[in-house]
Amino acid sequence: MEFRFEIKARDAAGRIGKLTVNGKTIETPAIMPVVNPKQLIVTPKELKEMGFGIIITNSYIIYKTPELREKALEVGIHELLDYDGIIEVDSGSFQLMRYGGVEVTNREIVQFQHDIGVDIGTFLDIPTPPDVPREKAEEDLRITLERAREAEEIKEIAMNAAIQGSTHPDLRTYAAKRLSEMNFEIHPIGAVVPLMESYRYRDLVDVVIASKLGLRPDRPVHLFGAGHPMIFALAVAMGIDLFDSASYALYAKDDRYLTPEGTKRLDELEYFPCSCPVCSRYTPQELREMPKEERARLLAIHNLWVIREELNRVKQAIKEGTLWELVDERARSHPKMFAAYKRLLEYREYLEKNEPVTKASAFFKVSEESLRWPTAVRARERAERVERKFPETVKHPIFGEIPKYLSLSYPFAQSEGEEDFTIEKPRKGEAKEYIIAIAEYQFGEGAGEAFRDAFVELSRKTGMPRQIKDKGKHLATFRAEDGLLTLGVEGARRLHEVLPFPRMRVVVNEDAEPFAKRGKNVFAKFVVDADPGIRSYDEVLVVNERDELLATGQTLLNGEELKVFQSGLAVKVRRGVEK
Ligand code: GUN
Ligand code: ZN
Repeated sequence: MEFRFEIKARDAAGRIGKLTVNGKTIETPAIMPVVNPKQLIVTPKELKEMGFGIIITNSYIIYKTPELREKALEVGIHELLDYDGIIEVDSGSFQLMRYGGVEVTNREIVQFQHDIGVDIGTFLDIPTPPDVPREKAEEDLRITLERAREAEEIKEIAMNAAIQGSTHPDLRTYAAKRLSEMNFEIHPIGAVVPLMESYRYRDLVDVVIASKLGLRPDRPVHLFGAGHPMIFALAVAMGIDLFDSASYALYAKDDRYLTPEGTKRLDELEYFPCSCPVCSRYTPQELREMPKEERARLLAIHNLWVIREELNRVKQAIKEGTLWELVDERARSHPKMFAAYKRLLEYREYLEKNEPVTKASAFFKVSEESLRWPTAVRARERAERVERKFPETVKHPIFGEIPKYLSLSYPFAQSEGEEDFTIEKPRKGEAKEYIIAIAEYQFGEGAGEAFRDAFVELSRKTGMPRQIKDKGKHLATFRAEDGLLTLGVEGARRLHEVLPFPRMRVVVNEDAEPFAKRGKNVFAKFVVDADPGIRSYDEVLVVNERDELLATGQTLLNGEELKVFQSGLAVKVRRGVEK
């Protein structure tokens, strides 16, 4: 079995990842269309052609249907479904929730999943519904964890371990912790369908965050049963990597039409707000006049199209650093979504820990809620700390009084509100104060010391700081894009000297040492320790286990993730001490 998950880019607590299972790779966040093996509205092959590299089907339905079961055992599930992408299967847990029982044991269904050659299996977890008494949730969870141990013992395939616990946040966190300690590959968050069906998105946020708080950060997280495009931005911002959608087909059979803002009935549509191949070719009236089956198929294709488009929009937002803007926009399509969005913003610590320190785009104050985005909260907290050393302030139209010497840096200078913020160029004698204040802001208390003897070159063209030097040695570069610092080797040395271990450090083992020294990138599997205060996209110090400086570069992972991840890039090294 081959399974790998690595992070490529991120914004909010969301991430673009690369997931490889048995030689097949997809990019996350991804959605798995649900394939009903008894009724294919759109065939798996067509799904693959539309770009869906992973699908989910139900091993219990195959198990219970003699013709399907025999064929699956004979030729394997990929040939049964005529699909060569990644096939995940559910176990019958959903049927357990809907109908109260299933005619298979945990061991039998896990064994069957092996026998038919699935890529990702699921054991028979118990989806405890929302609002049940604590005793019931605890008892169900006890059985789910017992089944997890049973599955763990026999499994030789990649497997889902769903987090349960009903609407008791501490049980969700507990379940997440226990399952994180075990040998599983993906963690779905289970039994959330009833919450979504009744628009309880606020409670959904509590359940997801409680689960994420207990989960190790290096495993992909699937929101079981979530497939409406309306929820993607919010869910990805919370740290969800995978979705599954039965709704594209179920809604289509019911003449319902998905949009990123909600669901429409075909009946109420005079015009299509979409230009997919279906919507460009037909009018709503023409679709209504079609035979039922043809109409359902076309609606399903539209629905899939919208799902893919919204996921692409979310991924593009991650790349641009505008995911919060998208979440804010989507939150306005339903008051219950707005409530969920506001609830999410209350989880300040979780959000701050996962928020990048810099972004490709300016901070847009699109609403009052923007001021509670983690970037804004962090900027104010850090600025307050800097203000104690540099009390002179200027008035910022979005952030209020800020230390004057931070007025060139992200997000203060890179922001858009209703009123403009006029950036004043540093006066010649003051340039060093800016750099010291930025260092304190970026690397924490005391970091400014590293630049006490610095000489700051100002750009002749823009008047902005450029290179920061001391006696001809390069300490750092002031980045024009975000007003933060990129360290040179000498700057890293000085920072290393003034900041006590483990601050800003990424500690690597001796295998990585010669490579890091020569300026090569550091991969996650070589990292043995890290400052828990590191945030994604921070400029960090790469050191060995004796705390000797090896390199400096930009990390993709935060401190907690650096310690846990075993695949993918950890630090994009800019300079090694030997090069
Ligand atoms: N499908 C929707 N919810 C669930 C769940 O909680 N567990 C499993 N296994 N499948 C689901
Ligand atoms: Zn369409």
